[in-house]
Amino acid sequence: MKTVLVLDFGAQYSQLIARRVREAGFYCELVAFDTPWTELAARNPSALILSGGPESTLAHGAPDCDPALLAGGLPILGICYGMQLLARHVGAQLIAGGAPEYGPATLRVVAHDGALFEGVPEESRVWMSHGDSVTALPTDFKALAATPRCAIAAMASAKRRMVGVQFHPEVVHTEFGKLMIENFLLRVAKLTPNWRMESFLESSLAQIREQVGSRQVICALSGGVDSAVAATLVARAIGEQLTCVFVDHGLLRKNEAREVLAAFRDVLHLNVIHVDASERFLAMLDGVEDPERKRILIGHEFIAIFEEEAAKIHDVGFLVQGTLYPDVIESKTPQSKAGHKIKSHHNVGGLPERMKFSLVEPLRALFKDEVRALGRVLGLPEQIVARQPFPGPGLAVRIIGAVTPARLEIVRDADAIVREEIGRACLEVHPWQYFAVLTPVKSVGVMGDGRTYANLVAVRAIVSEDGMTADWARLPHDLLARISTRIVNEVADVNRVAYDITSKPPATVEWE
Ligand code: XMP
Repeated sequence: MKTVLVLDFGAQYSQLIARRVREAGFYCELVAFDTPWTELAARNPSALILSGGPESTLAHGAPDCDPALLAGGLPILGICYGMQLLARHVGAQLIAGGAPEYGPATLRVVAHDGALFEGVPEESRVWMSHGDSVTALPTDFKALAATPRCAIAAMASAKRRMVGVQFHPEVVHTEFGKLMIENFLLRVAKLTPNWRMESFLESSLAQIREQVGSRQVICALSGGVDSAVAATLVARAIGEQLTCVFVDHGLLRKNEAREVLAAFRDVLHLNVIHVDASERFLAMLDGVEDPERKRILIGHEFIAIFEEEAAKIHDVGFLVQGTLYPDVIESKTPQSKAGHKIKSHHNVGGLPERMKFSLVEPLRALFKDEVRALGRVLGLPEQIVARQPFPGPGLAVRIIGAVTPARLEIVRDADAIVREEIGRACLEVHPWQYFAVLTPVKSVGVMGDGRTYANLVAVRAIVSEDGMTADWARLPHDLLARISTRIVNEVADVNRVAYDITSKPPATVEWE
């Protein structure tokens, strides 16, 4: 299939670019910025996008692409760093520092090329994040737009089918960013959309059948969207050959294990083995306070139990994993090569290579939203498809400090109230994720004329596109008041509620 390739120079938003391209109906993948042109060309790309990046193109040893790709004749869009790099390669002038811009800016279209800015109003809001600026262009390039601090905020050469934008069209803060990316694909590169979920489903089913043949297949279910969609897809392809194992670590939300199991068995008719391992996990976590240690212990135990169950099934040749595209590229992109480890993320995708099975990873090419769309095409109930993201180590990372049955009950009850209240509120922007955290703090209170010394529960609600960055949700005060009153009244041993008003970064979504 024809692919749009994004050369990743390490910007935070590179994955978002790929998503926007797919939303426009084109298959798109990220590749390392220094991939040689011969390798890129071998993938038969229909257009290239150069992403932003944290460096300055003027710095010594700045990341560069293979110059041969500029002579390859493909349409190219350069974004931020990508525009500056494009500019350098075509002989434009740049200055370092100059007039840096971070955050919102007003973009004014100064020349229409009938392509990139088609349908974009003369003035609109864009999102800037740059230090250097392009100051002069070679003759076959035209400046298309400006901001008050950046005279050349967009440039294009119709002849060379190259365009560059200094701002970030991929982020939602750029009002017409989506349209600009579509314009690049449809009007500059003149491509025809070719990526649809139904056709993806058809080809996946055939691929799974071919890969698996008549062997038995197993799948670890977590209750999350990814493993549910992967399992349903594989079951659609091979039916009874698939056995799912649902390892219940006892760290799920209120009634979750029961609901998930009912959905898998009764609605999706999957062949499921339920392992109630809650006591085993609780015993293992006894006295463990360190967040990383909790995550690692839970991950290992999960795998050990799954292996025990798998050993009981005869002639298993394959293991289904709900690996998504962001997981696939995480280990490959320059950004993560240079990045720091923040947390050991665990989900059922972490099963080790030492298991002798070959992997079936039918979601490897998809983003989270696309997995949801596929789930809907497969007929999964909304209750599963629209599920909030939930960490693999479950409530253990929402109890700060040691996990005990009593503390699990507190966070579970408080969380159920948060989900119920926010879930039924009519909000302009529905938060992406919302939950309760049990802090290790106790404070003094007064209840019924008596002194209390009880737990502090924190409420977290965020708005986000993908969990990579997030802002705290501006929930209405009366909703927060209802949540607080209900938690203090209904959850034993809690006398205080705090609302987390930190974005990510600098905080993370989960507290551990
Ligand atoms: P953080 O806390 O890293 O969370 O800002 C970002 C998003 O990832 C979810 N999360 C996890 N998901 N396994 C998962 O599958 C994990 O171990 C895990 N830890 C955090 C978190 O809920 C948020 O949506």
